[in-house]
Amino acid sequence: MPGFELIGNEERAELNEIFDQSNGVLFAHGFIPQRNGRYRVREFEKSFSEKFKCSHVQATTSGTIAQYIAMLAMGVKAGDEVITQSFTFVATVEAIIAIGAVPVIVDIDDTYNMDPVALENAITQKTKLIIPVHMLGNTADMEYIQGIARRFKIPVLEDGCEALGAKYRGKYSGTLADAGIFSLDFAKTITTGEGGLIVSNNAEIHKFCREFHDHGHESNPALPRGRDTRTIPGLNFRMTEMQAAVGLAQLRKLDTIVAINRRNKQALKEVLKRSDKIKFRRITDDHDELADTLIFNFENDKLCNNFLKKYLVAGFLTKNVPDAIDWHFAGTWNHMFKNVPSYRDSWDTAWSKSAQLLNRSVAIPIFVKDSAEKMQERGEAIMRILATL
Ligand SMILES: Cc1ncc(COP(=O)(O)O)c(C=O)c1O
Repeated sequence: MPGFELIGNEERAELNEIFDQSNGVLFAHGFIPQRNGRYRVREFEKSFSEKFKCSHVQATTSGTIAQYIAMLAMGVKAGDEVITQSFTFVATVEAIIAIGAVPVIVDIDDTYNMDPVALENAITQKTKLIIPVHMLGNTADMEYIQGIARRFKIPVLEDGCEALGAKYRGKYSGTLADAGIFSLDFAKTITTGEGGLIVSNNAEIHKFCREFHDHGHESNPALPRGRDTRTIPGLNFRMTEMQAAVGLAQLRKLDTIVAINRRNKQALKEVLKRSDKIKFRRITDDHDELADTLIFNFENDKLCNNFLKKYLVAGFLTKNVPDAIDWHFAGTWNHMFKNVPSYRDSWDTAWSKSAQLLNRSVAIPIFVKDSAEKMQERGEAIMRILATL
């Protein structure tokens, strides 16, 4: 699973350097004599852009805010329709509503991500943006989705918060479309405690994000910060040097995290493949998924619930499905749609296809600290439970 498992001496050393080399400067800007040339937020953005092969990276305080700013940068305004999916974290829809835009939420398919057919059916004259979410490590069907988006000339913002490190057709997921966002919160592949990133290859989108997240500062190199130029008002969503220091150490661990995820998931899946009672989620790029979660489903929810009772009693964990489904499935969000007329009276029935799939599904977290042998043992224990159903 995530970077929090591997927080240790490398992160501690990076943090100590802030005090040992840079006199404890925690602000991303200014303090020129004290910081001794180190700008850790900028270094983190640069390292990320080099690794992810995208021209522009903007660090922010969270993935939620990264999405909010990216949507503004992509021209989303109050009243515009933004299409996303029913299975996602609440943040995706919260950020749309925060702008005053209208969330148009479509069902998921057997990838547990946006169903491209449902997407196409949901497009109207008012559609301003499409946000596919790469849920639990599996990239959405991006070729299909981008094909539709191109045909209708609608930009795409990828939510890569749950798939940092996955690739699709050889490129990092999150860098495939017009822009992408990542979260660096406590539960993500790499973490800075809280934090987010906006990535793109579009200089205009990046310029807006950079300025908006920092009160409009243009960071004009010819002027001191107190005299800086500005053309748009913004807010403060700046990352601190402490977060970036941890991020630098975590980013160096990304390849290891992903490699162990894949080894461990494969070890578990190989054992569970022997069962004819479960069906695995369709992975769009089997070779390059993040592999931090194994999702499978049963023929019906009764069988699934029987399994879950025994699985949980045995002391095993699930990841979001079903333990935190209330935060990840729009059909449970009784608080979200009071001011969204299209869903005010139908939020609990609107996504029956997704509900039908999620109600008979189980998501198992894959941990980096487990060994492949441990995963095989866990697989055998799960097989014994499956045999009793
Ligand atoms: C799919 C998805 N989008 C957005 C977010 C929001 O990220 P953050 O917690 O950094 O605000 C999350 C975090 O859980 C997420 O899973």
